[in-house]
Amino acid sequence: MPSKVRKVVFPAAGLGTRFLPATKASPKEMLPIVDKPIIQYGVEEALQSGIQNIIIVTGRGKSAIEDHFDVSFELEDMLEKRGKKDLLAIVRGISDMIDVAYIRQKEALGLGHAVLRARELVGDEPFAVVLADDVIEADTPCLKQLLDVYNFFNAPVLAVMEVSPEEISSYGAIAAEPVSHSGATGQVYRIHDLIEKPKASEAPSNLAIIGRYVLTPEIFDSLTSIKPGSGGEIQLTDALRHLLHSRPIYACKFQGTRYDAGDRLGFLKATVEYALRRKDLGGPFREYLKGLKLGE
Ligand code: UTP
Repeated sequence: MPSKVRKVVFPAAGLGTRFLPATKASPKEMLPIVDKPIIQYGVEEALQSGIQNIIIVTGRGKSAIEDHFDVSFELEDMLEKRGKKDLLAIVRGISDMIDVAYIRQKEALGLGHAVLRARELVGDEPFAVVLADDVIEADTPCLKQLLDVYNFFNAPVLAVMEVSPEEISSYGAIAAEPVSHSGATGQVYRIHDLIEKPKASEAPSNLAIIGRYVLTPEIFDSLTSIKPGSGGEIQLTDALRHLLHSRPIYACKFQGTRYDAGDRLGFLKATVEYALRRKDLGGPFREYLKGLKLGE
């Protein structure tokens, strides 16, 4: 039996430059989709996948994320006195739901570097990584789909999705062959190679790595072995490529819809679709959208 995955690392120390000026003083992970910060969607996905231990790698705006998952005595007291039971349950639920630890990445030296910062807190056991700005709507939580594959192969698993040839150079791309696997929700591949942000003409496939990973602790040695890559940053994809020399790595084309909420258009799409799905808002919002005169 593979060791159980008990911890999820949330790298949240990026600069969020695509969302300036909103991210000048607060982290993009705290931008709300409807009324919930982006990072809370990821944390709820971890919980629904059976993991409560959360490690958040923070940079600037650390206090906003910490405060969000902390107990807010004044707010709870005020809601209690005013008899706002529903809101009190929502606010309490956030601090009750997880066991969270924080580690600082002082400089944004790349996603790989952020993951490496979590080494001590993770220890010598498998762990997951969730990039909160990839918000994923799925019947079976995306992370759960990856954990099922990990439990079968006892090896690292990355979430991938098909993108158009024009889009692939914004992602890490994989060269891979499909493998059979009983019980997987999505299609599973064994990876032969990975390339971070390839030119469209050099991409090995249209399968792009997105922000969900199940990793084993050897990744930390790979992260310390590699040199800065694309954008001068320590890239997680480069460390995975290094690790591929010594052990198999799998990819899971998950079932569900992923929104790139770290990008303005992706964020808008997520906002509209999550609002439409809401019981309390969906009806009137749909009526409002229908009334918009959307000329060419
Ligand atoms: P992005 O590639 O989205 O970069 O990072 P970014 O800096 O957050 O945003 P832009 O591109 O400037 O708008 C992917 C994930 O990796 C984390 C980010 O917080 C995000 O969750 N990250 C990235 C770090 O934690 N540290 C880094 O040094 C880089």
